[in-house]
Amino acid sequence: MSVLIRSVGVHIPERRITNDELGKMVDTTDEWIRSHTGIGARHIAADGMLTSDLGADAAKKALAKAGVSPKELDFILVATATSDYLGFPSTACIIQDKIGAHGCAAFDITAGCTGFIYGLEIASNMLSARRGHHALVIGAETLTRVTDWTDRSTCVLFGDGAGAVVLSNIEEGGRGVLKTILGADGGGALDLYLKQAERPKSFERAPAQVPSIVMNGKNVYNFAVKSITVLIERIMHLSMYRLEDFAWIVPHQANARIVQAAAKRLGIPEERFYMNMEEYANTSAASIPIVLGEMEDKGLLKRGDLIMLLGFGAGLTFGGSVIRW
Ligand code: ACO
Repeated sequence: MSVLIRSVGVHIPERRITNDELGKMVDTTDEWIRSHTGIGARHIAADGMLTSDLGADAAKKALAKAGVSPKELDFILVATATSDYLGFPSTACIIQDKIGAHGCAAFDITAGCTGFIYGLEIASNMLSARRGHHALVIGAETLTRVTDWTDRSTCVLFGDGAGAVVLSNIEEGGRGVLKTILGADGGGALDLYLKQAERPKSFERAPAQVPSIVMNGKNVYNFAVKSITVLIERIMHLSMYRLEDFAWIVPHQANARIVQAAAKRLGIPEERFYMNMEEYANTSAASIPIVLGEMEDKGLLKRGDLIMLLGFGAGLTFGGSVIRW
């Protein structure tokens, strides 16, 4: 039995903000943002649209492509750092209702920008353990709702979007999710976090506060370059594949400079890494499925291709997956 990615669905909000437009809001320029991050634009969820709306739309598209009905789903797993509600209910439950998948299990996971890789590993293990036939793994984010739009060092980095995959347990050896490595370094938790009102120490309520992203850019940069480097080396070691065996390496789309630095360190040509952060910026847990959807639309993913997915993000977390398409 294999756990296959049967299909990918993507939701990209229509509203697009270029670097030049951002330059009218904070003291920044297109030249600075492009040269430091490779980002040229970001898409922003329409007023009133929630993370669950983006995720539900991506999910419906993935289900339609796979020819799987929502009623056939065994569970829905949503990786997000920007759930509709803080704490509960899970965004997965809200999406379950929005797509009409009533009754199946639904839960969120929190692993920052590595959330999709964590989700893929959890879901494929649940399916392999014969706990069902079909699952949805969704990465969905509305990061621009928790962005501090006065902080030029972070507000230029993020965008909104969602990507969903249908995973199916199928009688076909050799394809699907072959190997995954997950890890974390909680010592770096405060290098990237959502600052919120301090939890009350008594029953008296503190005034509500909109959470916003706080980041130590240099620490995150160093961690991200190291994560890509170490993950590739460990995947090579564990899987016994050679780099030449991989059709594509798909990194989390945080920043082109991070990918370029890791590629240089490993002596891998940059063209082997697929990047689209120029158009969408960093969409956290949604970035990898958004890339997969784009690559599929462009006909870049062929049946039997070996690809490597690499995630790194808040936690700090990291994870890599080897997939035979
Ligand atoms: N426009 C213009 N100037 C800016 C901007 C901006 N948007 N942001 C920062 N600067 C300025 C700083 O104020 C500083 O000015 P100063 O020297 O006068 O003090 C100067 O640029 C250099 O700032 P640094 O922070 O040293 O810039 P750096 O070269 O480190 O780049 C960056 C900053 C791009 C954030 C980098 O640290 C980075 O890529 N970090 C990784 C963070 C990341 O990708 N996070 C995404 C989320 S995490 C994830 O997905 C894994």
